[in-house]
Amino acid sequence: MPEADAPTKNDKKSDKEFYVDVPQESRSFFLKGSNAHDWGMNNRLARIFNPQSGKTVMLAFDHGYFQGPTTGLERVDITILPLCPYADALMLTRGILRSVIPPAFTNAVVMRASGGPSILKELSNEQIACSMEDAVRMNVSAVAVQVFIGGEFETQSVANMTRLVDQGNRHGIPVLAVTAVGKDMARDAKYMRLASRICAELGAAFVKTYYVPEGFETVTASCPVPIVIAGGKKLPELEALRMARDAVAQGAAGVDMGRNIFQAEAPVAMIQAVRKVVHENMSPEHAFDFYQSAKKQPRKR
Ligand code: R5P
Repeated sequence: MPEADAPTKNDKKSDKEFYVDVPQESRSFFLKGSNAHDWGMNNRLARIFNPQSGKTVMLAFDHGYFQGPTTGLERVDITILPLCPYADALMLTRGILRSVIPPAFTNAVVMRASGGPSILKELSNEQIACSMEDAVRMNVSAVAVQVFIGGEFETQSVANMTRLVDQGNRHGIPVLAVTAVGKDMARDAKYMRLASRICAELGAAFVKTYYVPEGFETVTASCPVPIVIAGGKKLPELEALRMARDAVAQGAAGVDMGRNIFQAEAPVAMIQAVRKVVHENMSPEHAFDFYQSAKKQPRKR
């Protein structure tokens, strides 16, 4: 026994405090459906989702993996880097992570791990596009995979997800399932319930869907893991803020927004306004006032 711990004749009871009357608390994890993950996985989820608000503002700019340099993403180094400090997590590809994002950036990274077809081909024909080993090497907080429920290559895309879930469970890396709605499919609550539930049942740690104005609360209620919403096509800023508020009010655990931030007239002001709605419960109208005044501030390069 080390000398300092050896009992002596003069040992006083007050020298140590074991709080014998205070049982150790066993706390549940703050994200729904996430108690049974391993410590490493929940630690990663707690980097994506703010443990105080329980929500996240993810910035999605992975569109180039099938669309190339789409509007707003022609030069990620110029247009996106200034937004990064305001995002809880960046959703991007490993190519952009390595080529553009400084390694000193310490917010969470959710890395796209599926891909293959371009906009010129059948989009559902994706394969796994990044090994879990490389994801671990890049210290990501989660990997993202597109799932095409109802799509031509539905089963293949679900198999991409389940393989990533198996690999992710081995390493403590959560999988974000991104539900992709085909052009001919109805973008309604019935579809979102079906797609998000399948992803959660088959092991996704969290799911990304589009917001639907009718019955979105049934989508979040029937999905046993957190849901984040995609922003979708560019909307006027106030409408985008209202969509974020509605989604969160109806049970979403945050947003994973791309075009409605980086195609906004003032993207830095917009991401800050989205944060106010998601994390601070600010009304969309007040957040829009904030946006209007923040966009007048001179921008530092
Ligand atoms: C689409 O497949 C990509 O995963 C995007 O990250 C996603 O759709 C979110 O971007 P946006 O808010 O522009 O819809």
